[in-house]
Amino acid sequence: MNSNPLSTRLAGLELRNPTALASGILGYSPESLQRIAEAGAGAVVTKSVGLTPRVGYPNPTVVQANCGIINAMGLPNPGIAEYASEIRYAKTVLTVPFIVSVYGYSAEEYAAVAKAAATAGADAVELNVSCPHVKETGSEIGQNPKLLTQVIRQVKAATSKPVIVKLSPNVTDIVEIAQAASAAGADALTAVNTVRAIAIDAETALPILSNTRGGLSGPAVKPIALRCVYDIYEKVKTPIIGCGGITTWKDAVEFILAGASAVQIGTALAQKNPAVFQTINRGITAYLKKKKYRSIKEIVGKAQRN
Ligand SMILES: Cc1cc2nc3c(=O)[nH]c(=O)nc-3n(C[C@H](O)[C@H](O)[C@H](O)COP(=O)(O)O)c2cc1C
Repeated sequence: MNSNPLSTRLAGLELRNPTALASGILGYSPESLQRIAEAGAGAVVTKSVGLTPRVGYPNPTVVQANCGIINAMGLPNPGIAEYASEIRYAKTVLTVPFIVSVYGYSAEEYAAVAKAAATAGADAVELNVSCPHVKETGSEIGQNPKLLTQVIRQVKAATSKPVIVKLSPNVTDIVEIAQAASAAGADALTAVNTVRAIAIDAETALPILSNTRGGLSGPAVKPIALRCVYDIYEKVKTPIIGCGGITTWKDAVEFILAGASAVQIGTALAQKNPAVFQTINRGITAYLKKKKYRSIKEIVGKAQRN
């Protein structure tokens, strides 16, 4: 019998606990990712990497909102050729599953980046098909079931590593998109990326972000993300990783009850500190004990009304 009540298995990955670092919060450095593992995360996800280097948008790229932040970084990244050596090094440093987030402008590009990341040693790839602020990638793929199917099929053909698909909340029916991703062979679904948003400065009478629009994250988006997980779990068998506004152990438990097998934490880390992983894991453990559950597996999807 498994004696660790927090352990969870999804997409062929064994996690010692259900918390993971969300993409984009800490960038790429193997050392900073390992610090997050040491602080208690069960897995880490890199910032999204593409085929070629990208500078990203000029400042301001982040603005504070009530109960969250709005960002439009513009996917700055070194490109997979440069990052591949960091992935190889990260594999020698990291003590938890290492998930590389990838993006592209076509199915071929997604497949090429995913293949390079997997070959360099990523334990899984997460497809960012949901970035709300970069044209022709991200949401434009994640909002279109046909395009999404092509991307996932090509990535699956290019690598045998698990493929996690990160969904956008900026769609009319997230279940339709999740069903398409699942049918195309996604091994897990991350729900969700940021919610399209804007901030305006009354003094200058202009949008604050250089890119005008951005994506909202943090506690403000939690009820939306939770609803997305609940809706997907109701109709789709593929395991779900909940993401969006998770700050406390209670938030994490709510996502698991809605149907998530694991959770990702982003903004809470930027606003609190890496201890958030341990605090959340301790809280989940105490909850399981109090409610007399032996493992988190027993409570995945328990809030679903049949
Ligand atoms: C500054 C910042 C950068 C982000 N960069 C990425 C990224 O490169 N790729 C990606 O898939 N998601 C990215 N995200 C989205 C997060 O991974 C996460 O889906 C979202 O912030 C919701 O979770 P949270 O409320 O816990 O932050 C970014 C979020 C923030 C705040």
